[in-house]
Amino acid sequence: MKIGIFDSGIGGLIITKAIKEKLPEYDMVYLGDTLHLPYGGRSKDAIYCYTERAIDYLLSKENCNLVVIACNTASATALRRIQQEYLVKYYPKRRVLGVVIPTLETVVDKYSNKRIGLLATEALVNSGIYQEELQKLAPHMKIFAKVAPLLVPLIENGGEKWLSDVLQEYLKPLLDKNIDVLVLACTHYPFLIPYLKEILPPNIAIVSQDRIIPDKLDDYLTRHPEIDKKLNKNSENKFCVTDITNNYIKTAKYIYGRDIKLEKVVL
Ligand code: DGL
Repeated sequence: MKIGIFDSGIGGLIITKAIKEKLPEYDMVYLGDTLHLPYGGRSKDAIYCYTERAIDYLLSKENCNLVVIACNTASATALRRIQQEYLVKYYPKRRVLGVVIPTLETVVDKYSNKRIGLLATEALVNSGIYQEELQKLAPHMKIFAKVAPLLVPLIENGGEKWLSDVLQEYLKPLLDKNIDVLVLACTHYPFLIPYLKEILPPNIAIVSQDRIIPDKLDDYLTRHPEIDKKLNKNSENKFCVTDITNNYIKTAKYIYGRDIKLEKVVL
């Protein structure tokens, strides 16, 4: 059985690459729902429906024992229902994990007394999930969130030359709040780090999920040998998307430093 990694697009590819560096022997399949991205401006119902179809594909067609929803927007909107209704009914022994709690655990561990800023999609910020979960983990902490709707479309569509200007605009209200830490609460945003380093004062720490999720997954597998023992360790990789565009091919090549073989699938 395999590990599945799901996102609307490029963000999941960044996380897959980081997980593969940490756990190279595990067989993995990445699925990007590029036909429907960006998820960030869509309704809760649409995000749930797309996410359920993707999870169903990974569990039934790719025989995944464990899926990481490497998408904050889908983690916030669909994960709980996937775990409590869909998995319980159809695959009670398999597991689907998200990225919000592991990210917050890291933030609380490392930056407990700091002022936290967060950049994310509209659906993620509207869900209030980071605030809600932080309240349970560290009620004394507060997050200042900023919706950044143009970032995913610019990253997915080759809009690099506009990124700096757009980022400056989005970061202004967070800088006004004197944040010490910026949490990139969208798996697409590690792509922005070189641009952010040019804009942010050097004392502001950047929290990026490609540096968090691989360690957290490794830790999860150590704590759950019943899941781990069913996972194949032949170092195999598969990359599936629901639509292939030239920009996606170009960005994937930029991320991996080489061409990757993409398979188009129907969910
Ligand atoms: N990578 C997704 C996330 O972490 C992007 C969502 C989108 O498609 O807008 O939220």
